[in-house]
Amino acid sequence: MGLYDQIHLTVVNNRDFIADADVATAAMMHREGTHPTYNVPILIFVSAKNQDPMFTGMMMSSAAMIAHNMVLEATELGLGACYLWGVLTAVSNNPDLLAKLNLPEGYDLFAAIGVGPTSETYEAREIPADRISVNVID
Ligand SMILES: Cc1cc2nc3c(=O)[nH]c(=O)nc-3n(C[C@H](O)[C@H](O)[C@H](O)COP(=O)(O)O)c2cc1C
Repeated sequence: MGLYDQIHLTVVNNRDFIADADVATAAMMHREGTHPTYNVPILIFVSAKNQDPMFTGMMMSSAAMIAHNMVLEATELGLGACYLWGVLTAVSNNPDLLAKLNLPEGYDLFAAIGVGPTSETYEAREIPADRISVNVID
């Protein structure tokens, strides 16, 4: 519905924030010592106004699509990019980190990606046609 005025992007290139988010996410996942942010130089959070529960799914879907488009564009630019829902969940549940994002009033975090340079190359992949189940209603 073109409600772009209800979406907000937060770009984080603060090393301390990313390091703290890394520790918080690893702790949440009970995987201390791992690096679920992959030590990316940039995190991008997508938040959206979330004041009517009836539309939460729609706002979340919008945020996910925006994140996906950013990942596609990052790939096009030769950058590495990854959806980081673990980081999203950890930051959403950490009042100190969440406050540092300085989100607009009434907005919740719905998507996060990490972006940075990579030495990996992207190859075409064979994706099985039956990876996702399908039923057809005639
Ligand atoms: C909703 C969602 C959340 C994800 N969260 C994470 C995450 O927190 N950390 C991570 O490394 N990858 C995350 N990913 C990336 C998935 O691990 C990745 O898409 C999966 O390996 C499948 O890749 P493929 O669809 O390209 O085969 C997420 C992907 C999606 C769709």
